[in-house]
Amino acid sequence: MRKLTYYIACTIDGFIGDPEGDATSMFKFTNGEYMAAMNAEYPETVPTHAREMFGVDAENRHFDTLVQGRQSYQLALDIGVTSPYNHLREFVATRSLTESPHPNVELIADGLVGRVRELKAEDSPLGIYLCGGSTIAGELIEEIDELIIKTYPQVYGTGMPMFGAGFEPRDFELGDVRAFDNGVLVRTYTRKR
Ligand SMILES: NC(=O)c1ccc[n+]([C@@H]2O[C@H](COP(=O)([O-])OP(=O)(O)OC[C@H]3O[C@@H](n4cnc5c(N)ncnc54)[C@H](OP(=O)(O)O)[C@@H]3O)[C@@H](O)[C@H]2O)c1
Repeated sequence: MRKLTYYIACTIDGFIGDPEGDATSMFKFTNGEYMAAMNAEYPETVPTHAREMFGVDAENRHFDTLVQGRQSYQLALDIGVTSPYNHLREFVATRSLTESPHPNVELIADGLVGRVRELKAEDSPLGIYLCGGSTIAGELIEEIDELIIKTYPQVYGTGMPMFGAGFEPRDFELGDVRAFDNGVLVRTYTRKR
């Protein structure tokens, strides 16, 4: 079984965006030593249309497949990008889109959890990047094997939670921890089953 990894940026108080999901206040930390390290380690998490700007031109290292919710995908559609992670196989969960806007993007309308389990069962050395947002992460919470949490030095007070899910304690084991000079903390956790 390959891993489903939720790779996500959040505030100190665990929000991935403002109450509507807007995460632009965190962008001011996406620079310097931190950004260079993340782009080198996880080049495939940089959207295809932003790779040139960030000087990223590397093979996929951890993931070859991406899953995201339609609201997150909408951010790309709104700027005219229909395949934001063209260097990965792209899956978008949606019940409102009926036709894929791009041949590289496969829509998942029914059986989201089952489809993700099928993807996890595929034979590949690379894993699956769960890109968000909150709703889809909440629905897939039991399938998540790894968390890579990029914590930015901001507190929101309220906002969009990392998981749109009900209360239930779930244990994770801490792996790697890296602190960067701009105050960003990156932690990796593995699900304890
Ligand atoms: N901080 C970060 O690193 C980060 C990363 C990613 C996203 N975000 C933020 O997260 C926000 C979006 O999060 P969100 O929770 O609003 O939405 P989301 O999880 O991205 O997408 C939710 C949508 O997915 C579809 N969906 C949900 N469950 C489904 C199921 N079981 N089967 C089929 N389709 C399903 C529905 O699409 P339809 O409405 O089309 O049916 C639903 O509206 C964005 O504003 C973005 O900025 C932040």
